[in-house]
Amino acid sequence: MIVSPSILSADFGHLAADVEMLNASQCDWIHVDVMDGVFVPNISLGFPVIKALTENSKKPLDVHLMIVEPQKFVQEVKATGAKIMTVHIEACTHLHRVVSQIKQAGMQAGVALNPHTPVSLLEDIIGEVDLVLLMSVNPGFGGQSFIPQTLEKVRKLRQMIQKSGSHAVIEIDGGVNRETGKLLAEAGADVLVAGNAVFKANDPQAEISFLKSL
Ligand code: DX5
Ligand code: ZN
Repeated sequence: MIVSPSILSADFGHLAADVEMLNASQCDWIHVDVMDGVFVPNISLGFPVIKALTENSKKPLDVHLMIVEPQKFVQEVKATGAKIMTVHIEACTHLHRVVSQIKQAGMQAGVALNPHTPVSLLEDIIGEVDLVLLMSVNPGFGGQSFIPQTLEKVRKLRQMIQKSGSHAVIEIDGGVNRETGKLLAEAGADVLVAGNAVFKANDPQAEISFLKSL
């Protein structure tokens, strides 16, 4: 399992210390949530903070843009040093173009789906994308409860990926913990994002190791 702890749940007053903890952990990536107060009802952090994170992190950054018009910011995300740029399907009128631009910029291209968005909408683009992020909560906040319907979406998406020969990995974001993580692993998830489950744990590194072992 690929594990991507979500920095949204970290201590923003001591980000460097949390990044050091992640550097010394078994996590694979660091998940960074960008919110604009328009696509989602919250505002989180922007490019200068992401740049500071990449400069301190030994792990690749997985940037999840919960913003309208994400196509405007491909070069800005690239300039932060992030490796993966994920945009929401609901925010992209010309998704194929955005995915191409992300790849042309030398990053891996991810497409995120809100809980109400069917995976069937990916049928004609699945061969082009590197990662599909299924939201298992309504985006905007950490610490929400996992929506169980996500498990069926993982199974459907896994079938679509196998049938098409796509190399896309399936990432799940929201309400991931030991219990939901196990169910997601069984359903066919490749990447688990975890915010509260990691950062609110007594031993965050042990929590990461547990998720990694699923
Ligand atoms: C929610 C964000 C998530 C969030 C997950 O809008 O996309 O990445 O940090 O937090 P938990 O794991 O606490 O649900
Ligand atoms: Zn996220």
